[in-house]
Amino acid sequence: MLVFSSATMQLLFLSLPASPQVLFLITPVLFSSFFLLLVLLLLLSIHQWQHPKDKRLPPGSLGWPYIGETLKLYTENPNSFFANRQQRYGDIFKTHILGCPCVMISNPEAARTVLVTQAQLFKPTYPPSKEKLIGPEALFFHQGAYHSRLKKLVQAAFLPSAIRGSVSEIEQIVLKFLPTWENTTINTLQEMKRFAFDVAMISAFGHKQDLEMTEIKQRYQCLEKGYNSMPFDLPGTSFHKAMKARKLLNGTLRRLIQDRRDNKKQGGGLLGSLLGAKNQKVDQLSDSQIADNVIGVIFAAHDTTASVLTWVVKYLHDNGDLLEAVTREQEGIQRKIIEANRKLTWDDTRHMPLTTRVIQETLRTASILSFTFREAVQDVEFDGYYIPKGWKVLPLFRTIHHCADFFPQPEKFDPSRFQVPPRPNTFMPFGSGVHSCPGSEPAKLEMLVLLHHLTTRYRWQVVGDEDGIQYGPFPVPKRGLPVNVTPRKIKRA
Ligand code: HEM
Repeated sequence: MLVFSSATMQLLFLSLPASPQVLFLITPVLFSSFFLLLVLLLLLSIHQWQHPKDKRLPPGSLGWPYIGETLKLYTENPNSFFANRQQRYGDIFKTHILGCPCVMISNPEAARTVLVTQAQLFKPTYPPSKEKLIGPEALFFHQGAYHSRLKKLVQAAFLPSAIRGSVSEIEQIVLKFLPTWENTTINTLQEMKRFAFDVAMISAFGHKQDLEMTEIKQRYQCLEKGYNSMPFDLPGTSFHKAMKARKLLNGTLRRLIQDRRDNKKQGGGLLGSLLGAKNQKVDQLSDSQIADNVIGVIFAAHDTTASVLTWVVKYLHDNGDLLEAVTREQEGIQRKIIEANRKLTWDDTRHMPLTTRVIQETLRTASILSFTFREAVQDVEFDGYYIPKGWKVLPLFRTIHHCADFFPQPEKFDPSRFQVPPRPNTFMPFGSGVHSCPGSEPAKLEMLVLLHHLTTRYRWQVVGDEDGIQYGPFPVPKRGLPVNVTPRKIKRA
């Protein structure tokens, strides 16, 4: 620390000229310089206290006070924002966005440390408005015992053994939607949202849908309008309407939960899993814990899957040979189904290697969750750097997925790269560690069932030649990808 010794101060005074006139002239100057020096020393000590020399913050710029680099992030393309800084500062760098100092991480091993091996030091963090709308007891917002207890129950609801029976229900939804697209121009994103929402309702409530479903659907649709609105809880605002819908939704869910409890019919889906927790003493959850987690799963399941499906439609449209190859794979399965006079099954979906690789490559290329947010719960020594308590830590999935060292020619859409499994920790579309996505299997299943029917029966043409990305909140093709859907002309041999 920079400290002036009293000897130095004495020397300063002793070396002053002795004449009283001169003293009279220089005294005010001397005092103000001395005062300035003291202020400087104080500021320097505060700075050194906050950022001790032996504790090295990651390189990078915190930008302007408070606004930091937020404007740059929003005016530049987010990809170039991350890539430019990675080039300048390396895989771990600091910045300041949305009022928070952040450390961004694009090194797979360091991302693993944050998400897996040292996960207890980095808690998930969301804007308070999201927590209010979804419900504070949803598992996203928790760590430790409550989170792991819930996570087990949620995972159990989405294990392959639990969801293999839902193929025919998902297929029914697909067959309800596809004919409505025929010979019209659809907004792919909006249609995929409607489709993914109906499937999410099965994930949440099981096959046997209760009377309350229409009410839940309407109220949820009002609630979701608040997710990306400004969090002003004033009459007339979207946020206020969403909060009102959330309260009403709570009432409907409580009625449904009570009804299932009273009639001792736990039912299927996540609700069934949460109501039927085996070890009642340890696992029994309150109605509000159940409601928050059911809403949480609908939230997590539907915009994500819809955005990925929109990209799959785009990539297959732009890669005609690939679309034909996927169609051939699906026609092979279709032939078996017709020969055996049966419906599409779970086992069929396990024999779609090319279609599965198309989904994997879409998850990599589109990387709809570009990053996730964590917060250091204490001061952390990390990879030779110091991360102060309260700083946000962001593993950058997209930057890792687009790194040429792990995925050569990263901008090329090439599903064949997944014939060889990616290097560990370089492919994390569903996150990693304790908070990783429990819905990866249902998400893949619904995409496979939809693609089976879409590719064998239809062709689509993108309307307009506008390439580009919009954020809502996930990156999706511009204007939600309007496409013209027509029945496929089958060539007879
Ligand atoms: C392709 C679609 C999907 C993608 C790309 C995706 C991605 C992710 C990612 C990256 C996370 C981890 C976030 C973090 O670590 O902060 C996550 C968490 C989660 N996802 Fe998904 N997800 C998808 C679909 C689904 C579906 C269909 C469900 C449910 C049926 C679901 C339920 C959840 C839940 C409950 C969490 C929170 C887990 C926790 O905090 O422990 N997701 N998802």
